[in-house]
Amino acid sequence: MLSRGDIVELEVESAAYKGVSVARRNGLVILVRNGVPGDRVRARVVKKKRQHAEAVVEELLELSPCRVAPACRYFGTCGGCSCQNVDYRRQLSFKRAQVEETLQHLGGIAGVEVKSTLPSPNVFYYRNKMEFTFGPNRWLMPEEIRSGVPLRKGFALGLHIPKRHDKILDLEVCFLQSPVSVQVVNRVRRLAEEQGWKAYSSYSGEGYLRNLVIRTGSNTGDFMVNLVTRQRRPDRMKLLCAELLREFPQITTIVNSINETLSPVASGQEEVVCHGSGVIRERIGDLEFRIAPTTFFQPNTSQARNLFEVVRRHAGLTGHEIVYDLYCGIGTIALFLARDCQKVVGIDNHGTAIAAARTNAVANGIRNCTFVLMDAAKALNRNLVLRQGRPEVLIVDPPRAGMHKNTCRSILELAPERVVYVSCNPATQARDLKILAQRYRVESVRPVDMFPQTYHIENVASLVRT
Ligand SMILES: C[S@@+](CC[C@H](N)C(=O)[O-])C[C@H]1O[C@@H](n2cnc3c(N)ncnc32)[C@H](O)[C@@H]1O
Repeated sequence: MLSRGDIVELEVESAAYKGVSVARRNGLVILVRNGVPGDRVRARVVKKKRQHAEAVVEELLELSPCRVAPACRYFGTCGGCSCQNVDYRRQLSFKRAQVEETLQHLGGIAGVEVKSTLPSPNVFYYRNKMEFTFGPNRWLMPEEIRSGVPLRKGFALGLHIPKRHDKILDLEVCFLQSPVSVQVVNRVRRLAEEQGWKAYSSYSGEGYLRNLVIRTGSNTGDFMVNLVTRQRRPDRMKLLCAELLREFPQITTIVNSINETLSPVASGQEEVVCHGSGVIRERIGDLEFRIAPTTFFQPNTSQARNLFEVVRRHAGLTGHEIVYDLYCGIGTIALFLARDCQKVVGIDNHGTAIAAARTNAVANGIRNCTFVLMDAAKALNRNLVLRQGRPEVLIVDPPRAGMHKNTCRSILELAPERVVYVSCNPATQARDLKILAQRYRVESVRPVDMFPQTYHIENVASLVRT
């Protein structure tokens, strides 16, 4: 019998969700933190339940052949890229295996081929948006503590420590966004410290600086710096603009978002454009999109194009279909498919996203797309069908929570011939597919790696009406 606190030797077998791996002991599943499939480890049991246990690696006895040296010096402490110590090809196969396992266990879907994960064209520096956070308490790296050198403990600008929203790792390098992005981070940190601008504290509610959001147009070169602060201080923004624009001529726009609320979101109730147009442009194929500070846009531009190509193939369009794009955001998928079908009806419950989708359609000269502001759970009704026609193809791309059960029910009633389900959370996707199985067969499944070096999985499932 295994108990909490026991030290056990384990062979790590496979990857589970969120960077946790699976080992087994006398038939009991043990979820292992900090292990990689193929490792032999000595681990401490931290939780024991009836069905499974959880353990943390204390010592690596034999290293897995999947391991590689992580590129980043913050690996293991930073919450950004928890899979950097795994060879990229293995990351892809682990993600494929997780999708297969999740669809089987949570969705009851067996016997469907899960294709290999589509690799990202770039495995580092692939993000077009990063949200950095300011904090008054800098998280110290273990080697800094061991060094015995007197440490600077206050002000930090970087990423959160996993599960610690009050602690910020001060990042001087980062492999997720372009190298210029982290140079801007370092310059803003230096300026803030020189000027004595205080970081916001979620405990006291005091302080000025909350977030630094950097967005880039990978295919246009546009570059947005958005400083999220608690108050409006035009004098400070004027200085920041002058300093940044002198050193980084590639910056095309600077925005100041004011967030006076207790909510830790990296956006504001008010946005002041301090330089440039306040938006960036990004291109996917021959389409151009305008992206405002709060607009959702796929974070890995080059892989977004591949994702949309997968959607296009799965949709099987011949030029005549009516397509509904549920959870359409700013209309990226809808506009991408518009030339291959009769028309697309995009639906989203976010007013600014729908407004942006309409603007994007006009700007790209696309006339066969209509965008409707509605909740997905209520949108697929008789009125919509009367006005727009019955869709042959439905694309859905919900947020992590997946679809509301009423939305699944309305899809079953509407019964389009094909459904292409894009998901950033295979667990909720599997749950929804189980409901849709009343009328749909899963024809093919293709994971697409939007987030190399992380455990996040994007998955496309293609369904046909039975
Ligand atoms: C993952 S994004 C998909 C965006 C889009 N397909 C793209 O590629 O840019 C999810 C979208 O779902 C929208 N959304 C969330 N809940 C919704 C709901 N209940 N009804 C309609 N749209 C919703 C969000 O506003 C967001 O635009």
